[in-house]
Amino acid sequence: MVASTSLDVVPEDPTAYKKKDYWDKRYQQESSDTTFDWFKTYAELKPLLNEAIPNKDVKILILGCGNSTLGEDMYDDGYKNIVNIDYSATVIEQMKKRCANRPEMSWLEMDIRDLKFDNESMDIVIDKGSTMDALMCDRGDVWDPSEELINDVKGEVDEVERVLKPGGTFLYITFGQPHFRKRHLQRDCWTINIKTLGDAFHYFFYSMVKTV
Ligand SMILES: C[S@@+](CC[C@H](N)C(=O)[O-])C[C@H]1O[C@@H](n2cnc3c(N)ncnc32)[C@H](O)[C@@H]1O
Repeated sequence: MVASTSLDVVPEDPTAYKKKDYWDKRYQQESSDTTFDWFKTYAELKPLLNEAIPNKDVKILILGCGNSTLGEDMYDDGYKNIVNIDYSATVIEQMKKRCANRPEMSWLEMDIRDLKFDNESMDIVIDKGSTMDALMCDRGDVWDPSEELINDVKGEVDEVERVLKPGGTFLYITFGQPHFRKRHLQRDCWTINIKTLGDAFHYFFYSMVKTV
């Protein structure tokens, strides 16, 4: 990993994280050699991901991939059928270049609230390390989020529900505690299972299997 020490990576205004412009500018200061994993790497998540995705031939969609190594690490672990999306065209081009030697994996510029995939076309959808959380970076009351925030997150979860095959799984890995996240994830077509990982500070591994 190339550290991004010279970058203005922590914005003064935390709502910057929900703006495409912030991410584009951030990635424009980086190169295809730069990688950064938000709070957990594949090595740490591998036991939980291998358990949740026992079949390595399934079609996997990674939401808001950024320049995390999750996609390439999963690929090298045998999951070849991976589509990575992000709304920053800059990071998509960088990652495409970086992973040119992993031809079965694709990189597409796309908004997670407006997926360009057919209904029921994905076996697994992964939101890891704060993609949904980025939509939630607001100044308001975390206990009483704004309509805009609720609609943004609903846009993502609606799309995940639409593109998942029956029997498919949505995995969401975050620092967000269940009392703040469950309300956004609840759907009639799945139940929410939660595991935790970490030592002192716990992260949450939400798993939702869409019913047939
Ligand atoms: C906090 S970073 C997480 C990156 C990566 N998932 C990880 O685990 O390190 C959030 C990423 O989501 C992307 N993103 C945020 N909102 C998005 C949206 N509406 N559609 C697509 N990508 C989005 C950003 O461009 C950024 O790359």
